Amino acid sequence: MNVKLYNQPLEQIDADLTLEFVTPKQFETHPHHGLLSKAGFKAEADQLCTLHEHRLLVCAIADDASDELYRSCMASAIKTAMNYAYTSLKIAQYTPGHFKALIEGALLGSYRFEAYKSEPKPSSLLDVIFSNTNHDGSVNDIDALESILAQTTVIAKATNFVRDLVNQTPYDMTPQAMAVTAEILSQSNNLECTILDVNGLEDEKMFAMLSVGRASSNPPRLIHLAYKPENPKKVITLVGKGLTYDSGGLSLKGATSMVTMKMDKAGGCAVMGIIKAVSELKLDIEVHAFVGAVENMIGGNAYKPDDVLRAKNGKTIEVRNTDAEGRLVLADVLGYAQEYVKSDYIFDYATLTGACMVALGPYTTGVMGHNESLKQEWLTAAEQSGEYCGNLPFNRHLKKLIKSDLADVSNVSSKPYGGAITAALFLDNFIDDNMKEKWVHFDIAGSAYTESAWDVHTYGGTGAGVRMTLNWLLEHCK
Ligand code: BES
Ligand code: ZN
Ligand code: ZN
Repeated sequence: MNVKLYNQPLEQIDADLTLEFVTPKQFETHPHHGLLSKAGFKAEADQLCTLHEHRLLVCAIADDASDELYRSCMASAIKTAMNYAYTSLKIAQYTPGHFKALIEGALLGSYRFEAYKSEPKPSSLLDVIFSNTNHDGSVNDIDALESILAQTTVIAKATNFVRDLVNQTPYDMTPQAMAVTAEILSQSNNLECTILDVNGLEDEKMFAMLSVGRASSNPPRLIHLAYKPENPKKVITLVGKGLTYDSGGLSLKGATSMVTMKMDKAGGCAVMGIIKAVSELKLDIEVHAFVGAVENMIGGNAYKPDDVLRAKNGKTIEVRNTDAEGRLVLADVLGYAQEYVKSDYIFDYATLTGACMVALGPYTTGVMGHNESLKQEWLTAAEQSGEYCGNLPFNRHLKKLIKSDLADVSNVSSKPYGGAITAALFLDNFIDDNMKEKWVHFDIAGSAYTESAWDVHTYGGTGAGVRMTLNWLLEHCK
């Protein structure tokens, strides 16, 4: 489906269906008030009603509706329109501020993943056409709207790209397949691409990551994608957890909690989506995306609780639970990234802990790090982009919970509470001193995947991290 912008009043645009947002007040004097009332429409929150004889789809919206509400209502409206046989839908502007949200609602709300359906049902709806005139008839500057459309489209498509990757099965999206995906992306988007296989990982002494992947018949890969414009304003390192499957290893997950663990690669997919968007927007920011692509499995050669691993930066880790594997992979990838790229900031994205969902609920990304003002920038960026983020604060007492009697640090906490924060404090052991204030960790365990539709999301990967990161980059790397 394409989103288009026409330099024409709404009435002059030729389309099968018109979408109109109606506030309770506007409903009172609406030309189709009688007909809509008869159909049960009361202009109550999120209510949708189609008058096919008028080729009109009406969506109720609050008088003072936020961007978030417009985005979410647009997604519901487009989903409804996609169930009909109409091929095009037109809509006016609802103040330029809402344009971005409406485009996102359309592009993210129309997403379907049907790669595994033997009979996919493509929607008839091909075009969503915006007029540059407002709902009240006033006209907007077409150039400003065009640049919003171009930028928002790139970011929304990158989000859908991430969803596609996350939704693929562990059989299809192995560490090797992730590396191939990265290579294809590097060719189409003119990025540098380096892949390390097991030999390369051994040469780099990345034994934490290697141990996690050892029992799998799909060996690990380290992916490094780089976008290097000529005069970058900033250099940014992104690191993603790319567990193509997390069975838990010998600390095996239960049958029900193992289901959905194909999404444990969502952090790795997110950093690929972010670098895709940055390169397509041709931003003056050098971006490095690192993915630790690994499968955590069981077998005679599996790594074990009681093992001690030496990470790339030389620190030793006591393994007490092989299901806390993401932090082991990230330990090495963070070490590698900092050794090879000197950057202004380092951000990591990981479906790291169930505890993050306990703390913040299933929709919110946990934000952790040492730099309070930097975290605040991210909370603002997330809010502006339509993602939910919550701050999870460090303290010196929590740090003591991952002490090990045997090695430098333990991979699990000695207490059952605050698990998202103790996981981040584990990662802190692998952040160099000069980067402590430049690092933010995002736990996307809840936000990256959903089994029931919410907001602009349908069943499956959500693309968490992409929109908020582009928002932060556009705001803070000028
Ligand atoms: N990938 C999981 C975290 C996760 C759980 C993501 C549920 C999404 C949904 C991670 O590797 C894991 O298993 N973490 C353990 C850590 C524990 C053993 C300290 C967890 O959260 O239970
Ligand atoms: Zn795990
Ligand atoms: Zn995991």
